[in-house]
Amino acid sequence: MMEYLRLSLVFCCWIKLASSVLSTAPQTPVANPEVKLLVLTVATEETDGFHRFMQTANYFNYTVKVMGMGETWRGGDVGRSIGGGQKVRLLKNTMEMLAEQEDLVVLFVDSYDLIFAGGPEEILRKFQQANHKVLFAAEALIWPDKRLADKYPSVRSGKRYLNSGGIIGYASYINRIVSQWNLHDNDDDQLFYTKIYLDPLQREKLNMTLDHKCQIFQNLNGAVDEVLLKFGTNRVRVRNTVYDSLPVVVHGNGNTKMYLNYLANYVPNAWNYEHGCSHCDDDLLDLSQLQEYPNVLVGVFIEQPTPFLPEFFQRLLTLDYPKDKLKLFIHNNEVYHEKHIQKFWEENRNVFNSFKVVGPEENLSQGEARNMGMDLCRQDTTCDYYFSIDSDVMLTNRQTVKLLIEQNRKIIGPLVTRHGKLWSNFWGALSLDGYYARSEDYVDIVQRKRVGVWNIPFMAHAYLIKGSALRNELKEKNYFVLEKLDPDMALCRNAREMTSHREKDSPSPESFHMLRPPKGVFMYITNRYEFGRLISTANYNISHYNNDLWQIFENPVDWKEKYIHQNYTQIFTENFLEEPCPDVFWFPVFSERACDELVEEMEHYGSWSGGKHEDRRIAGGYETVPTDDIHMKQIGFDKEWLHFIREFISPVTLKVFSGYYTKGYAIMNFVVKYTPDRQAYLRPHHDSSTFTINIALNNKNTDFQGGGCRFHRYNCSIESPRKGWSFMHPGRLTHLHEGLPTTNGTRYIAVSFIDP
Ligand SMILES: *[C@@H]1O[C@H](CO)[C@@H](O)[C@H](O)[C@H]1NC(C)=O
Ligand SMILES: *[C@@H]1O[C@H](CO)[C@@H](O)[C@H](O)[C@H]1NC(C)=O
Ligand SMILES: *[C@@H]1O[C@H](CO)[C@@H](O)[C@H](O)[C@H]1NC(C)=O
Ligand SMILES: *[C@@H]1O[C@H](CO)[C@@H](O)[C@H](O)[C@H]1NC(C)=O
Ligand SMILES: *[C@@H]1O[C@H](CO)[C@@H](O)[C@H](O)[C@H]1NC(C)=O
Ligand SMILES: *[C@@H]1O[C@H](CO)[C@@H](O)[C@H](O)[C@H]1NC(C)=O
Ligand SMILES: *[C@@H]1O[C@H](CO)[C@@H](O)[C@H](O)[C@H]1NC(C)=O
Repeated sequence: MMEYLRLSLVFCCWIKLASSVLSTAPQTPVANPEVKLLVLTVATEETDGFHRFMQTANYFNYTVKVMGMGETWRGGDVGRSIGGGQKVRLLKNTMEMLAEQEDLVVLFVDSYDLIFAGGPEEILRKFQQANHKVLFAAEALIWPDKRLADKYPSVRSGKRYLNSGGIIGYASYINRIVSQWNLHDNDDDQLFYTKIYLDPLQREKLNMTLDHKCQIFQNLNGAVDEVLLKFGTNRVRVRNTVYDSLPVVVHGNGNTKMYLNYLANYVPNAWNYEHGCSHCDDDLLDLSQLQEYPNVLVGVFIEQPTPFLPEFFQRLLTLDYPKDKLKLFIHNNEVYHEKHIQKFWEENRNVFNSFKVVGPEENLSQGEARNMGMDLCRQDTTCDYYFSIDSDVMLTNRQTVKLLIEQNRKIIGPLVTRHGKLWSNFWGALSLDGYYARSEDYVDIVQRKRVGVWNIPFMAHAYLIKGSALRNELKEKNYFVLEKLDPDMALCRNAREMTSHREKDSPSPESFHMLRPPKGVFMYITNRYEFGRLISTANYNISHYNNDLWQIFENPVDWKEKYIHQNYTQIFTENFLEEPCPDVFWFPVFSERACDELVEEMEHYGSWSGGKHEDRRIAGGYETVPTDDIHMKQIGFDKEWLHFIREFISPVTLKVFSGYYTKGYAIMNFVVKYTPDRQAYLRPHHDSSTFTINIALNNKNTDFQGGGCRFHRYNCSIESPRKGWSFMHPGRLTHLHEGLPTTNGTRYIAVSFIDP
């Protein structure tokens, strides 16, 4: 009875095809304007796929009746084994009530993996053009019984075999088909329809055919290569390039669900060039309307030595989110990082709601650790969100957690990319064998030429999962596949990437712990905002004292942020430099950290030269004006230092000595130490350089007294060096100079003789 009532409600709203609608399509043969279309589908749960189906149906104003909602699914695991009989049973029951409706056309489709690309008028027009009473979707693959192949009528071109994911026909005819059903819920629906269709008598009597050339139904299984997106002004369609058709119903059957997800990022109006993303603001969660902020468990994964870890923690700390709503779970797999975590813990353990660390002594595999983090949220019913972040993600956007929560998806990640590379934390597509494939839109998404919220097959490094999803759809831990490619496969993919230039910049086997959406749950990445970047953990040598100093090549952006003076760029934008003596220029270049770490590095090395004339480190072995120093080369820092000179000193040279293009070459690069009891000053001398830089590495008055530099020709002294600031002055001839005595404490400077 309930069923009947609901149906009659639906009936009153059927679209009547007005002739004005049809007249917009002049090629249309005369269609019966009284024909009505009803979409029937089966869904036992409101999955993400179901919502998407309904969204596209509503967009085109289809009238849809959903059968089976709330029923337990008994149709087997369609896709892997046969099943789906439950769908026929439900359709049979419904059709009994509809059979009498003349002029009623019924479209029976799957819903979890299917979208509409066109409207009901178009479907009816195409159906009537097909001139049959019943039309089934077609595909090139035969399923489930290959032995039936010979019984199929041959086709000159087009897809030969029946697919039961899409059926359209007059109600009475559909009824005559499904009324024959007397099997079980887990029997195969496609086999049932196939047998009826293959019976020549029935085929003729029921006036059945297949949509061989994908006029209405596009099954993607076996046809991914035939299908492209076609961008129109307001609408995006799918074009079948083999039959030059624009199918209306697109079905991600078999293992093409990922490809359907890709298409549905655009079709029918999700994103286009004119308007960008049209669904991005649907279902937003307004955090300001909540009584209090949701509880978030932050899982931090330090699975390999990672540069700039203290900075990573600092960004976590400065996230714009109430810290009492954040619980911290850290898995650290590296003994090397224990000191960093210890420091962060000591300073901030009371800042967060809770703070748990699992260290290397637990010997957890990466997968175990990740599951442990997820479980902590899953089992804590007060955990509203789980935010997983790897130590190589530099979140530069302090709003990241809020923005992700507000987007209101079960699983969503922020797009993060390697600076200047096409490397990111997601895959846009998956090859049929389950490995990385570059989607047509991958580069545009990474470069934010297409901005939106994207349904994607794989991601890693940073993502937010709803606690409720962890306790429902994702409650079976193994649903949540944390992929670890076995080394052979990784190697294989690696090889492919080496040979294919196109994939050179794609995420590599390095990011082997990828998150794959569990069955029925969509996984998104958003690039609506800049969120941050991925740093490189490759080539991180941790055998120095301050290892990040060496990262100038591998992670130049983070290196600059950490080691270059805050006001350095103002040299160029605001002429932020001084000329205390003629042709002696003075400008900020190093951060406090750079100064401190370089001094620490030298003191850690410890072998100061003692300021002797004999010096085996230099050609000739004799130094006329020796200093108590350590060469950059001695600590293995010469390549990095020269790169620093080219990147940060050369531009200043060009600015102040206009017309002089430095080669940025230097042999003598060293840190000098002045103390009253060893070497306190340096007698007047010329440098063997075209120009010299001299960077103060510590502070007058706090670290030492005295010091400074005097240029004789101009009777000009600079007695208050500033930490992190560099002098730059000509070396030979003009600028005879001396190091003024350091009277107390220890003074350090870094010196380079450039273009000797
Ligand atoms: C669906 O119906 C609404 C309201 O009648 C209308 O504004 C809209 O244009 C229709 N959509 C399509 C795709 O025809
Ligand atoms: C199917 O029905 C159409 C009318 O809807 C008719 O013109 C056509 O001849 C029929 N085809 C067969 C094979 O019976
Ligand atoms: C750590 O675990 C691995 C594999 O699970 C094992 O081979 C290794 O012996 C363990 N190491 C320690 C110190 O327990
Ligand atoms: C790491 O640095 C140390 C010290 O400079 C050096 O001896 C070693 O060769 C470096 N290792 C690699 C892999 O570059
Ligand atoms: C940079 O310059 C501004 C003034 O222009 C100053 O307030 C600030 O302290 C400087 N930063 C550093 C690190 O010296
Ligand atoms: C150098 O300058 C100082 C004052 O700054 C002055 O007392 C001294 O006489 C000058 N020396 C010469 C040689 O000009
Ligand atoms: C030298 O510096 C130390 C501390 O840095 C201070 O205690 C001492 O008084 C200083 N000596 C002179 C002569 O200024």
